[in-house]
Amino acid sequence: MSRHLLSVDDLGREGIEELLELSASFVEVMQREIPKVPALRGKTVASLFYEDSTRTRLSFETAAKRLSADTMTFTVGGSSVCKGESLRDTVQTIAALGVDAVVVRHQAAGAPHRIAQWIDASIVNAGDGRHEHPTQALLDLLTLRRHLSTTSLDGQRVAVVGDIRHSRVARSTAKAFGLLGAEVTLVGPPTLLPESLEGWPGRVSFDLDPVLPEVDVVYLLRIQRERQSEALFPSLREYAARYGLTVERARALKPDAVVMHPGPANRGVEIAAEVADGPASIITEQVANGVAVRMAVLWSLLGSGGAVA
Ligand code: CP
Repeated sequence: MSRHLLSVDDLGREGIEELLELSASFVEVMQREIPKVPALRGKTVASLFYEDSTRTRLSFETAAKRLSADTMTFTVGGSSVCKGESLRDTVQTIAALGVDAVVVRHQAAGAPHRIAQWIDASIVNAGDGRHEHPTQALLDLLTLRRHLSTTSLDGQRVAVVGDIRHSRVARSTAKAFGLLGAEVTLVGPPTLLPESLEGWPGRVSFDLDPVLPEVDVVYLLRIQRERQSEALFPSLREYAARYGLTVERARALKPDAVVMHPGPANRGVEIAAEVADGPASIITEQVANGVAVRMAVLWSLLGSGGAVA
């Protein structure tokens, strides 16, 4: 793995496979009575979050602690960013404090790439604008492989549904599913699909209903209102009526099909509460696997190449 993880493209199929194998060994570590290893003792991991997060920030911090790294947490509120400090000055300040890796979430696509040019630490992209969220893609793949008890996703049919245009998760996850051999269908209204399909795997459908009986995985996305400057559909109610995974719609799924969502979910919009909590949902497995994946990423970037322990 290179010095940074900025995009799924940094990994390719081989890099993804390696990280998933390593993640599986960290799942085993997490099942121990004391789920902690000394692999990154003496290293410091900073989280630099310019956008809200629950899962990603907490699971990166948990991962760093379970690897025995020291952690440093930055959030915009209460920081000198509120007094006008620039991103570059903020990052260089954090670097001067002594860090080995910085986990970055930022509303601007490309911010982690810029930061990687400014400081020596390894940079992990924890979501940049509508560009990428590579560790979300990795945890999604790990979750599906573990759920299916297989290492092959060849031929698995995955529908990614919703606001694909504004979703960094869709960009990373659809690409990663495609790299591992899954057949991806992007589903949504034309206004929420990418302007160009260049670089996207699979096919497109404007209708959810004919797709549901065919797929093994329905991957639902939240409407990213914070990234929309204009109304792209008439109302949430109409969106839910056409694209929401309601209880009635979920009945059209194959008996062993699974429902995934990166979170946070808007219950009653893209997913009914009963479906989110129902037997087909593996949403909480996704969250749980996020820690092992992030342990694997941090260890790959900062570990000295020795055993995990
Ligand atoms: N899936 C995800 O990135 O969630 P958070 O915004 O809570 O980190």
